Amino acid sequence: MTEAATQIWDAESYGRHAGFVPALGEPVLELLGPQAGERVLDLGCGDGVLTEKLVAAGANVMGLDPDAGLLEQASARGLHVVRGDAQALNFDSEFDAVFSNAALHWMADHPAVYAGVYRALKPGGRFALECGGFGNIAAMRTAIRAVAQRRGLDAPDRQNYPTVARASAELEAAGFRIDSIALIPRPTPLPDGMGAWLKTFRHGFFTGPDADTMIEEATELLRPQLCDPAGNWTADYVRLRFLAHKDI
Ligand SMILES: C[S@@+](CC[C@H](N)C(=O)[O-])C[C@H]1O[C@@H](n2cnc3c(N)ncnc32)[C@H](O)[C@@H]1O
Repeated sequence: MTEAATQIWDAESYGRHAGFVPALGEPVLELLGPQAGERVLDLGCGDGVLTEKLVAAGANVMGLDPDAGLLEQASARGLHVVRGDAQALNFDSEFDAVFSNAALHWMADHPAVYAGVYRALKPGGRFALECGGFGNIAAMRTAIRAVAQRRGLDAPDRQNYPTVARASAELEAAGFRIDSIALIPRPTPLPDGMGAWLKTFRHGFFTGPDADTMIEEATELLRPQLCDPAGNWTADYVRLRFLAHKDI
């Protein structure tokens, strides 16, 4: 599996602090419009909270994710999941639709994902996706970079947030017709605060004996921009959302 496919999540922390990720996945679910009986692949299904909604719509869903801990939780929900890397899909004209929420920006090679999805779809198949887009969490990334630089460390900044122009060109190069595509600023309330976000979403970086101090430093750098006077935190999320299809 590629490096991007092996980042480790803390499944327990993810389940506790990342509930907003699937909860805010409704617009891309609506964009897909899953139909009863159709075969859907959920790329980067994680712990399966959103995958369950596809199943509830009557679709026959397969979830795919590289993270063993999250897959265990998805399996425990009774979902059909497989361990795999969306950059190396091996399906041929098997799915009516491919769905993905909040996963593509964890992958380095988007053209490989698009090519694999195109192959996996039946003629006329749909591809509905939302992920972090260009400018996503810019303030948060800058604060993390500052904290890392103070210690001579590299910031954990390998997320891949595409522009509309880049995603459009790459989708079309893979053969897709684009039905809609947009960057959508989505200020996102963080009811558990910035520290919980940093621990959950940059789990691999904020570890070790200095982790709490580093989290505190990043939090204080961000407080003037992202915390209101009442103490409510908001993350500066920007999403890329598209619907594309394979010609019949
Ligand atoms: C923020 S979670 C989103 C989970 C779920 N889609 C949701 O909306 O709740 C990101 C997911 O992308 C997965 N992921 C990262 N790299 C991947 C890859 N190369 N192929 C497939 N999934 C990947 C992670 O393991 C994780 O489960």
